[in-house]
Amino acid sequence: MKQITLISLTLRNFKGLRDFVLDADGKNISAYGDNATGKTTLFDGFLWALFHKDSQNRTSFEIKGLNDLGRVAEHGLQHEVEAVLMVDRRRRSFKKVYYEKFTKKRGSAVAESNGNTTDYYVDGVPVKLAQYNAEVNGLINEEIFKLLTSPSYFNEVLKPDARRKVLLDVCGDMTDSEIIAGNKQLEPLTDILGDRSLEDHRKVIAARRSEINKELEKIPVRIDEARRSMPDVSDLDAELLQEDIDTMRSRVDAKTAELQRIQSGGELSAKEIRLREINASLAELKQVIQAEGLKAIHEQQTRLSQLRGEASELQSRLSAGQHEAERYTSQIVRVDSQVKRLREEWTSLDSLQYPVHEHQHDANCPTCGQTLPEDQLQSAQAKALEAFNLDKSKRLEAISTDGKLAAAEKRTLEEELQKLEKELAALREKIASKTAEVMAAEATLQNLQTNIADPADNTKYQSIQRDGDKVRAEIEQIRSSAADAIGKVQAEIRLLRSQVDDLEADKAKLVSVATTEKRIAELTEQERKLAAEFEKLEHELFLTEEFTRTKVSMLESKINSKFKYARFRLFEEQINGGLKDVCKTLFNGVPYEGGLNNAARINVGLDIINTLGQHYGFSAPIFVDNAEAVTQLIPTDAQVIRLVVSEGDKKLRLEHNDFQEVI
Ligand SMILES: Nc1ncnc2c1ncn2[C@@H]1O[C@H](COP(=O)(O)OP(=O)(O)OP(=O)(O)O)[C@@H](O)[C@H]1O
Ligand SMILES: [Mg+2]
Repeated sequence: MKQITLISLTLRNFKGLRDFVLDADGKNISAYGDNATGKTTLFDGFLWALFHKDSQNRTSFEIKGLNDLGRVAEHGLQHEVEAVLMVDRRRRSFKKVYYEKFTKKRGSAVAESNGNTTDYYVDGVPVKLAQYNAEVNGLINEEIFKLLTSPSYFNEVLKPDARRKVLLDVCGDMTDSEIIAGNKQLEPLTDILGDRSLEDHRKVIAARRSEINKELEKIPVRIDEARRSMPDVSDLDAELLQEDIDTMRSRVDAKTAELQRIQSGGELSAKEIRLREINASLAELKQVIQAEGLKAIHEQQTRLSQLRGEASELQSRLSAGQHEAERYTSQIVRVDSQVKRLREEWTSLDSLQYPVHEHQHDANCPTCGQTLPEDQLQSAQAKALEAFNLDKSKRLEAISTDGKLAAAEKRTLEEELQKLEKELAALREKIASKTAEVMAAEATLQNLQTNIADPADNTKYQSIQRDGDKVRAEIEQIRSSAADAIGKVQAEIRLLRSQVDDLEADKAKLVSVATTEKRIAELTEQERKLAAEFEKLEHELFLTEEFTRTKVSMLESKINSKFKYARFRLFEEQINGGLKDVCKTLFNGVPYEGGLNNAARINVGLDIINTLGQHYGFSAPIFVDNAEAVTQLIPTDAQVIRLVVSEGDKKLRLEHNDFQEVI
């Protein structure tokens, strides 16, 4: 158990208290004073010195002395608190000095305030704030210290959450399995929860429940909708209906078969076959009747084409002969012109005389150039004439021969041409007669073709034709009467079919009713299942609530067992049945915040301090403000500093005493 006691608390110029020393010397002490004499200020100073806060846990409060107008009464003062503690038999001093900083501006005679500052001293040694705090924290945690020094701190300053934390810290929280183990009813929860926490599972239940609720709300609507959608089938009987349908169907089938019979019609097809036979025999007869004429036509056609062949052959011979005649004519022209040319040639040669002067022989020898003798010259000239005449007659003879040959050729050619012309004339005559023959044959053919026999003139043919007409008329008759029958049967079939359709529609109604009924059954089953699940969830919810109740009672009794007078309520039932975490302190069943008398409040605070001190292994001086309210403080091991109002004491008065008596 760590023990801290207050040796002395010295305040100077602190919240209007000029100079006061609370000289406790580690023992219980009482400070008496009238209202506004500074009792509470002592506790403020103590907390300020250690934690920079006042007894209301405020950081911003006026430290300097104020005048009637609320202004700082006197500037330039040092505001100081020193707390001297005994910590496990070691003296420790913590001192803070708060003051205005003055600086003299250059050229100014007066120093000016430059804001406030604080100096810190631990055991008389000046230190920085951080180190000061570290030293204080080294003694004790601030929260715990406050809890242990003020009986009202737990109940009045701490928030309910923080209070719960402190209490659970003191008694030790309980695990879910510990709680389940504490109540047999809760056993199934272990399996229900699995790995989930109770809170999570409650959320799951809540979500699922609202889901199920929504579903359950919808189902009756759906069922109702389904019911209303069902057609009225009260007067329908499935079995009878099916029988009717089957009967009607077989009637339709029978009528359809009848229709087919009429359409394929036995009588009609027989007549059609008969008609085909008649047509065939007519064609045959026509063939017979016309056979002779056709044969004659055929023969005439053969003859005509033969004649045409002959005529065209004659024609080609004629044109060949004409070509030849032309050739002869042109040869004759050529030979004739040759004869004429030879005649002219002969005439001109014949008229040619020996040219004496021209042919006078040169008197000089052509070899030696010497002049020839006269005789020699004359003989030479005679020889020359003779040679000329001989040559001329030879040439004339030759021309004459050629001329005679040409004239003979011309004659021959002319004779040939004449012969050919005669032949051509004969050929032309032949062609003319052949053409006449062809024309006659053509006329004959024409005549044969126009005069070919008409089978309609044949009496037998006529009678067969009449037969055909009769059968055709019969077929027509059958066809038109069948059309009537078909129409009738088709109408019957249509009627039957529409009756079947009506019956089928009724059957469909029955099927739809069956389906809907099945759907309704499904929905009802679903509703049942959901309701069952809902019930199960309800039970689970009950278990979780039971769990909480168990936890509440277990925790509360566990916590309450730690305290002598104080009792705590950690949970409050809500209107919706859930539990709300609270932290209410009670004394004899009266809540701290709801009408508990001052003395009890202080004693409950002391009781809490006793337990917490035990728990933290720590005791600190307890400042009991308004201690005059209590005639008997409950005993405590810690040092108690009573702050007591006393009208007679206009100035604070200290009294060392020992009041460790029981109530
Ligand atoms: N900064 C301040 N400067 C001057 N006076 C102050 C300052 N702060 C508080 N006071 C006054 O100091 C006086 C002492 O106040 P304190 O609360 O300590 O009185 P108290 O003895 O506890 O009275 P009560 O019996 O009514 O509780 C009061 O009159 C208060 O108004
Ligand atoms: Mg007071």
